[in-house]
Amino acid sequence: NQLDMELEAIEKGGFDHFMLKEIYEQPRSIADCMRGRLDVKSGRLVLGGLRDYMKKFQNAHRIIITACGTSWHAGLVAEYLFEEFARIPVEVEYASEFRYRNPVINERDFVIAISQSGETADTLAAIELAKSKGATIFGVCNVVGSSIARATHAGSYTHAGPEIGVASTKAFTAQISVLSMMALMLGYQRGTLPEGQFIQFLHELETVPAKVEKALALNSQVEEIAKQFKDVRNFLYLGRGYNFPVALEGALKLKEISYIHAEGYPAAEMKHGPIALIDEEMPVVFIATRDSSYEKVVSNIQEVKARKGKIIAVVTEGDTMVKKMADHTIEIPSSHEAFVPLISVIPLQLLSYHIAVMRGCNVDQPRNLAKSVTVE
Ligand code: G6P
Repeated sequence: NQLDMELEAIEKGGFDHFMLKEIYEQPRSIADCMRGRLDVKSGRLVLGGLRDYMKKFQNAHRIIITACGTSWHAGLVAEYLFEEFARIPVEVEYASEFRYRNPVINERDFVIAISQSGETADTLAAIELAKSKGATIFGVCNVVGSSIARATHAGSYTHAGPEIGVASTKAFTAQISVLSMMALMLGYQRGTLPEGQFIQFLHELETVPAKVEKALALNSQVEEIAKQFKDVRNFLYLGRGYNFPVALEGALKLKEISYIHAEGYPAAEMKHGPIALIDEEMPVVFIATRDSSYEKVVSNIQEVKARKGKIIAVVTEGDTMVKKMADHTIEIPSSHEAFVPLISVIPLQLLSYHIAVMRGCNVDQPRNLAKSVTVE
């Protein structure tokens, strides 16, 4: 009725959809997530939930991350972070696979369960299984008091605020923010991350919300690009290193809300299959920021160009090399590569949003999908 519609309009805060509102909230939600935890001036990083379990975390033989959907993508980013900063081996597991395959797990494992809703049935079951084997379970949840938050030994909330759009956006960046702080703490405590670098990373993290703000300012440019690709049937997303999970997430966002088939791949795997799909009809989104794999990604871009694929590239501000090759470039602020996913995912969220709107899709409630999946 009329009243419900007006109430909903108020809740959307002037945005057409919850998803867009939530995309735009990210500078705030990331800052909220770090508030009271990260203090650059005193060089301190505190995650209350971790305090009693820090020793277990530090001495873990292995970190196992379990999650579903977008939360699983955040887990993939964390794998790179933990291994790089803290030198502990990490495995990232789909909760649904983990729980059913009689996994090898014991009391020296530190399990991190990531879930926006805190209610995902498979993730909850994976936690119970790991717990029964004596592992320590740490939750990274958004919903306070949720089933997963209660089932874990300890945890850190993401504090992103309620996420209404079914396709996860601000919860994803908040999860990565918590996991980044965990990785920095762990590396510092274990001595694998020297103090100087640790402090530098704290500074770097603190600058992320402002950079996300700048990435959001690219909205109208992304909308223009969306116009040109709204009618295609397939999309490929490629990235390497920290941007590989971002490629997966970009593809997931597009398929969830626009119903365009999209696949994300590590860029170097292109030659083992996806390259066969490339012709003049195929748009390929490259996340090609200036990082340790930049040159390699550039050569993948050349390969796509040689086959007349359409190239949309997310690059670092000031890039010239990719610009010459790509049909469209989106320039995002530069950051240490470990924190780039927090920024590079923004234009991909916007791209999927605009394409879905242009196709007349129900962005906030895509068909067949649920915000929290409480059945297996
Ligand atoms: C559903 C949602 C996704 C979410 C996934 C995991 O599929 O539609 O957006 O990423 O569940 O949910 P969780 O609440 O555990 O993060």
